[in-house]
Amino acid sequence: MSERSCLTVILAAGEGTRMKSALPKVLHEVAGLSLVGHVVKAARREPGVDVALVVGREAEKVRKAVEPFAPEAEAFVQSERLGTAHAVLAARQKIARGYDDVLILFGDTPLIEPQSLAELRAGLAEGADVVVMGFHAPDPTGYGRLLMKDGALVAIREHKDASETERAVTFCNGGLMAVAGRHALSLLDAVGNANAKGEYYLTDIVEIAAARGLSVRATEAPYESLLGINTRLELAEAEGVWQGRRRRALMLAGVTMHAPETVHLCHDTEIEPDAVIEPNVVFGPGVTVAAGARIRAFSHLEGAAVGENAEVGPFARLRPGATLGRKAKVGNFCEVKKAVIEEGAKVNHLTYIGDARIGAGANIGAGTITCNYDGFSKHHTEIGAGAFIGSNSSLVAPVSVGAGAYVASGSVVTKDVPDDALAFGRARQENKPDLGRRLREKLGGKGH
Ligand code: UD1
Ligand code: CA
Repeated sequence: MSERSCLTVILAAGEGTRMKSALPKVLHEVAGLSLVGHVVKAARREPGVDVALVVGREAEKVRKAVEPFAPEAEAFVQSERLGTAHAVLAARQKIARGYDDVLILFGDTPLIEPQSLAELRAGLAEGADVVVMGFHAPDPTGYGRLLMKDGALVAIREHKDASETERAVTFCNGGLMAVAGRHALSLLDAVGNANAKGEYYLTDIVEIAAARGLSVRATEAPYESLLGINTRLELAEAEGVWQGRRRRALMLAGVTMHAPETVHLCHDTEIEPDAVIEPNVVFGPGVTVAAGARIRAFSHLEGAAVGENAEVGPFARLRPGATLGRKAKVGNFCEVKKAVIEEGAKVNHLTYIGDARIGAGANIGAGTITCNYDGFSKHHTEIGAGAFIGSNSSLVAPVSVGAGAYVASGSVVTKDVPDDALAFGRARQENKPDLGRRLREKLGGKGH
């Protein structure tokens, strides 16, 4: 661990007009987490860093998105978007406190890896004054080009300002930079805005530092980790890269996926070894899947905890607060919300369970509905261990069915059912002899 003090400045004030969105660019999401959330999470993994966040439009929303990952981050407002160097200077006060290392990260580069940050800092520790993280882009259009001379980085040329020859360069600026704290403000203050965009480019500090005889270096990371988001196409590309990485990590950790490319994970999805994920499963935020569980095809889960060896789907929907115990089963076309399905209980077909507890080993018949909402409030349904709910029953909450009790098929249960009782909540059937034939004759005439 480095003894050097470090400030990370995260730029999140850009307009991102090419996203064509009412939402600030850095609040667009990859794997259910804002772009800037990913950046802050990566920054916080580097030990002992302070975080400064530069925000613009909808500053409060951006700050809120970051809060869970860096509650102590200090926010600075860049009120006019005059470029990346100008943005860094919004945090002038903080930079002026005197850090050994100043790291500058872009809020629209969500795939950066913690080791890249460590590598940049190592460069400073070895005596460099400016270290830039570059990458080789398959299509460099739009990126700043790293201009090298005799192995040294001499300038970064923004795409719009680059000559034809410079545009042919594929070694690009990843937007990740480290500057020795003692030079940071004087370099940034020297940046002008005489360029194609009329902006104060952070990238100009490279040329300025080189002219001052300071030591400037470029280092390299894979394209996938430096992909910057300016358009929805790049957003989708980043999502793909993120998903690929996470699936690979889960499979290597012991999770089976039959068709990994069809499984959509969330930034916080946790799956234990020996779980099996069938094709076309979508994980929203807040899902944990315990060892040996099986999530069958076309299921959608969010805010749910799936217990050991439990089974979900195919075509099941688990909504926030769904908690499945060991060996519990939630089958096809079932929806479960804010409900505990205890060990070995079965909810297998065409059912809605909301605001409920289903006791261990209970069996919920096809088409059962917990009627949990009266238009104003939600009410609870309690089903005891080993109870049996006949198909097509409506359980009108608040209501309880005791342990070991039976509910006859087609019941509308409005009163509590004691343990071991049998409840009939339906009209008694009557058979009228011959009436069927007579009706048919009346309606359709003889012979039909
Ligand atoms: C920038 C780099 C480019 C690099 C690319 C990598 C500059 C001048 N260019 O270009 O060399 O290859 O990133 O992805 O630095 N921002 C502010 N305030 C501003 C302007 C931008 O906070 O006034 C923020 C944006 O929210 C964004 C980041 O800075 O998170 C980068 O800005 P963006 O406009 O996307 O820069 P690029 O044109 O992509
Ligand atoms: Ca960008």
